[in-house]
Formats: sequence, C-alpha cells, structure tokens
Amino acid sequence: MAIVVSMINWKGGVGKTSLTLNLAAGLASKHSKRVLLIDLDAQCNLSFLSVGLSAYVDHTYKNSGSTLKTVFDAYFDRKQAKPEDVILKKRVRASAGQIFTQVGIVLSHQELTLLDMKLAREKRSGKDHREETRFEIEKLSVIKSIIDEVASEYDYVLLDCPPNVNLVTQNAFFSSDYYVVPAIPDFLSTVGISQITKYMDQFNQDYRSMWAYAGLPGSYVETKFGGIIFNMVDEYGGGPKDGHRQIMKSTASQLGAGALFKNYVTDGDGMSAAAQFNLPIFAFNDLPRAQQNAEKQATYMERVVDEFLNRIV
Ligand SMILES: Nc1ncnc2c1ncn2[C@@H]1O[C@H](COP(=O)(O)OP(=O)(O)OP(=O)(O)O)[C@@H](O)[C@H]1O
Ligand SMILES: [Mg+2]
Repeated sequence: MAIVVSMINWKGGVGKTSLTLNLAAGLASKHSKRVLLIDLDAQCNLSFLSVGLSAYVDHTYKNSGSTLKTVFDAYFDRKQAKPEDVILKKRVRASAGQIFTQVGIVLSHQELTLLDMKLAREKRSGKDHREETRFEIEKLSVIKSIIDEVASEYDYVLLDCPPNVNLVTQNAFFSSDYYVVPAIPDFLSTVGISQITKYMDQFNQDYRSMWAYAGLPGSYVETKFGGIIFNMVDEYGGGPKDGHRQIMKSTASQLGAGALFKNYVTDGDGMSAAAQFNLPIFAFNDLPRAQQNAEKQATYMERVVDEFLNRIV
C-alpha cells in the first residue's frame, strides 16, 4: 500500500515543488519505487517540470486532457472521476532521452484557484447536522477517493501543495499519512514553521471530531508530521554556514531535534538549470550549464531521499 505524503508550507518559493519532483525521481531511480505525483497548485509548476511545458499545454488545452480539475469537477457533478483517466503514466522525464516508467502524475490546472473558492462555498444541505458533517468530510475526501483506488499500485504518493492551507491543501492533508515541510533557513521562515505544525495539529483534531460526529465507521487516522527538509542551505567549510546553522538549530530546539531531516539541499544554480530543462537534478549530465553545482545538489538530494525512506514508514 502506498504511503501518502503531502509537501506543505504556506510560504512560497521554499522548494516544495523542486523537492517533490526530486524525491520522486530519487525514489524511482535510486530505489526502484513506484511513485504517483499529484500537482495541487494552480501555478502548475510540478506539471510543467515533470512533463515539460509544451507537453502540458498539448495535453491540457489542445487535447482537453484530464487534470486534477477533472477530479473536482466530477465531485461537483456528484460523480467520481476514474483514476485511469486522470493519471498520466510514462510521461515524467527522467533525463534528456528517458522517461520514468514507474512514475505517474496527476497534472494541475490553472483554474484550481477558482475551484478552491467553489469548494469553500459548496454546502450540501442534509437532513440533520450529522449528515451535513458527513458532506463536509466528502468535500475533504475528493483527492483521497482517487488515491484510495490506486494505493496498491504505488509505493509512494507525493502531493505538491500550493503555498496556502485552503481546501485543496486540506484535501491533500486529509488524504495523507504524513506531511513534510520544505523550508529555507531564513528568520521569517522559522517563525512560520512552528505555526504550520500547530495548524496541522488543529486540522487533525478537527477532522477527528468531525469523523466521530458524522458517525462514520472506524476513526480518523491522523496525518503525522514527517519532518522539515531544509533547502537552499549555504555551506561554509563542509557544513551549513553560521547563520543558517543557527536557524536550523533554533528550529530544532523549538520543535525537537527529530523534527529536522539531518540532510538538507544546498543552494546553487543546478536546481534552476534542471528546472529550466524540465529535468530532475539527477540528470545533471544532460544540463548545458551548472553541471558541477547540479551534481553536488544531486548528491545532497540523494541523501535526503535515503533519509526520507527511513523516516517515512
Ligand atoms: N536548492 C536550491 N537552490 C537554488 N534554487 C532552488 C533550490 N531549490 C529550488 N530552487 C529554485 O527556487 C525557486 C522556487 O522553488 P520551488 O518552485 O520548488 O518552490 P515552491 O515552494 O514550490 O514555490 P511555490 O510556493 O511558489 O509553489 C525555483 O525557481 C527553483 O528552481
Ligand atoms: Mg510549488
């Protein structure tokens, strides 16, 4: 059964998307894992990075292909989307001339922003408050219902969330076994990180009571905190430079030493070069520039992948 992991941080530009793609790439290429990627962000960055911009445009606009929007549209029509219609197989790029055969993706759509608002407004009236709570849980389960159908076909499902905690992100959280927080070691981010874990604790608490109140069978299974992965770390003398180390240390003292991944990803232009050519960092040999930096980042990323495998079980 797949382990489902949401990559969450409401701060933008910290590396949620880059780490999601490269975790998937590392899990698939270094550990032969089967991975399903789900892009929940209306910016569609993971979709563009994974299959390439023109392939995305062809699929979504020229061929009116299915995306995550299809899944939510079906929900509004009181139907259920079919996983085989929305999961694209053998399309995620592994290197300049190869695709990952074991990685699937559900692409995002720019109209997901509007959908988030539509979802917030959607109120189904039930015969009593209990039934209405059940409808609220259905609203949170749109993504879960798709994942549940294919959980046996994958080892990991990775969900790249937008930089907010609106209902689409809550759908990701609700469907996940773990949430992982990509972060950068700047002062403002660390203030935010402890807030995120508080928010997520609150979601768990709310969903647990809703589940019980709705009288659903079993009980709500909490989404566990999988840890913080620091990204864009500057190094000096073989470790994080002073300022970054201090911030990482203070985060660990706020949240507990175990809250941080021991491994991190360094700052460098390899990551953006890889992004520009729609490649995972491990394909550094195929990059026309920044190869050396990309190779270093690939080494660090691989350690993060190894640690991910040990932590997220
Ligand atoms: N380790 C790194 N070193 C240098 N640049 C990086 C690194 N990781 C990511 N980037 C670059 O930083 C930018 C933001 O990264 P990314 O899109 O992964 O963040 P995000 O958290 O998903 O952003 P958003 O909140 O907008 O979804 C991108 O241009 C990406 O290529
Ligand atoms: Mg992103």
